[in-house]
Amino acid sequence: MSTRRGIILAGGTGSRLHPVTLAVSKQLLPVYDKPMIYYPLSTLMLGGISEFLVITTPEDRASFERLLDDGSQWGLSISFATQAAPNGIAEAFLIGESFLDGRPAALILGDNLFYGSGFSAQLQAASANVEVATVFAQRVSDPERYGVVAFDAGGIATGIEEKPEAPKSNWAVTGLYFYPSDVADVAKAVEPSARGELEITTVNSSYLDQGRLSVARLDRGFAWLDTGTFNSMVEASEFVRVIEQRQRVKIGSPEEVAYQMGFIDRDQLRALALPLLKSGYGDSLVDVADREN
Ligand code: G1P
Repeated sequence: MSTRRGIILAGGTGSRLHPVTLAVSKQLLPVYDKPMIYYPLSTLMLGGISEFLVITTPEDRASFERLLDDGSQWGLSISFATQAAPNGIAEAFLIGESFLDGRPAALILGDNLFYGSGFSAQLQAASANVEVATVFAQRVSDPERYGVVAFDAGGIATGIEEKPEAPKSNWAVTGLYFYPSDVADVAKAVEPSARGELEITTVNSSYLDQGRLSVARLDRGFAWLDTGTFNSMVEASEFVRVIEQRQRVKIGSPEEVAYQMGFIDRDQLRALALPLLKSGYGDSLVDVADREN
């Protein structure tokens, strides 16, 4: 089991989804059959991580605690902290410094959904490498909305810019990051950007400048889904619905991943499924528990 610790950042005002997010955190909204935060949580679990800090707004903390509890039901340890204002993603490492306690870290944004074959292996490889930082990039049609990686002719990353007006490539940096154990120190050196935020792109650029950044590319068969707008929320839900119904699997289920990763055993999975049978969510967990392999 990894000693790497995971941070899920679920703050922000969700202003692009108002009025839906006026009274409820964006990361608690449903993406088809489960709360959004289940997806990023499951992603880091697939990387072998079992110790988590969930960072929320002060107003939403109690709701996340009600949903996730202390994580022991899924063989995890989950603790909570708050970000008083949306001061930027890199602040997660200042808030989470004592939680990390000098361990290597993984950070995932609470609204980023990933799905694709071979992903567990990619995550576990990134997690196992504690010497360098790893970010994941994917080709997108609208790179100006993201952190963007530039590559030289040999495919080596040469720079990363946050929301550039004139992007040097179409490769966007996704909201999933693995860092060595010095990440809190690197984050402390970050100055606020023009938009007043501690940018994660500055942390990544710092590792790149030190020759300690690996950029893993997610190929076109891989789904990195956005949940930033009303339309993309519906599209993400539809994507999950289609795959789950067609293949009778669950995407982003912490119960299923906990079982796969050996954090809980078959009897524990069955016990988790029972109270969820009425909604139908539990059915596929029972299927998984019944399967021989
Ligand atoms: C943030 C990061 C950006 C990254 C994106 C991924 O953007 O700043 O580098 O590409 O997440 O979702 P924001 O959510 O602040 O627009």
